[in-house]
Amino acid sequence: MKKTIAVLPGDGIGPEIISQAVKVLDAVARRYSHEFIYRYADIGAVAIDHTGQPYPDATHRICMESDSVLFGAIGDPKYDGNPAAKVRPEQGLLKMRKALGLFANIRPVKPYGTLLDASPLKNGIVEGSDFVVVRELTGGIYFGEPRGRNEAGDKAFDTCVYSVGEIRRVAEVAFGYARRRRGRVTLVDKANVLATSRLWRETVTAMQKDEYPDIALDCLFVDNAAMKMVSDPKAFDVILTENMFGDILSDVSGVINGSIGLLPSASFGSGKSLFEPIHGSFPQGAGKDIANPVATILSAAMMLEDAFGMKREAEAVRSACNDAVSNGICTPDIVPGSSYGTDAVGTYIAGKVSGS
Ligand code: IPM
Ligand code: MN
Repeated sequence: MKKTIAVLPGDGIGPEIISQAVKVLDAVARRYSHEFIYRYADIGAVAIDHTGQPYPDATHRICMESDSVLFGAIGDPKYDGNPAAKVRPEQGLLKMRKALGLFANIRPVKPYGTLLDASPLKNGIVEGSDFVVVRELTGGIYFGEPRGRNEAGDKAFDTCVYSVGEIRRVAEVAFGYARRRRGRVTLVDKANVLATSRLWRETVTAMQKDEYPDIALDCLFVDNAAMKMVSDPKAFDVILTENMFGDILSDVSGVINGSIGLLPSASFGSGKSLFEPIHGSFPQGAGKDIANPVATILSAAMMLEDAFGMKREAEAVRSACNDAVSNGICTPDIVPGSSYGTDAVGTYIAGKVSGS
């Protein structure tokens, strides 16, 4: 198969981890006789430096012309320390998600048997956990209007808005995953306080009753869900939640795996799909060859399977990652003091994919 992939390395460690994923994709192409054409484009702080825009039109065009999008990370300390900055790198990511209509973000969590000790949680709690966070990605407080400051500048406001249509389409994705998994959806909300959460609860509960009677649905308040995620993660199969709660809970889920550097994600919507690690740009680690490339490589595996239908290729990449992790070929976030850097881990995984 011939596929065009828009490659958006972004900021911080983005370029380093993306080159490992490309190395692995090249190994897949060689072994399984595919052709991947990479079209590189800017996003984030690097795009602001080059064009003044965090998600330039040229980048959007390249995404639209490609079969799928592989994205690294976004964010730069020079903006974090400047709350007055008018243009921020993160706006590029939000704009891209909105422009590509990516309303569902899938974040699977399943710890590696050999890495149970990498989690600060007790083995017995972590072992056997296997769940997916389905996070709504283009609505809620991230996008609601009005937002900003009053004229005096001494008051700020954000707005959380959800429509039934926005809730239904992402809930369909979550119920679909549950049907292919263990048949349970947990809706996470704050329905004891928020009107939007009550609409989520009403909509999702009615969907379960009318359209998905074979799926078990339970509803949890987000504070309770956060506690349960670290005290009893095995209780979850598919977690369905709104944008902001999904952002927070998916970082919490990194604790279960032992490192957020192992968690991939996929975003789906009206057309194009996008694949990215859930971690950020880790600016302190940029250029030091210490960033864990596995989350990005596993995101590329999700692309192979979910965007291109290349199941056995995706399996080969996942099993190469498993091999690396079980043999201790890991960056220092997993094996403290490890002599394997970003590049060496990527090369090892690509080598395993090639069959060596
Ligand atoms: C994520 C990130 C982004 C988000 C930031 C960089 C805007 O934290 O993908 O989880 O909040 O969605
Ligand atoms: Mn996040």
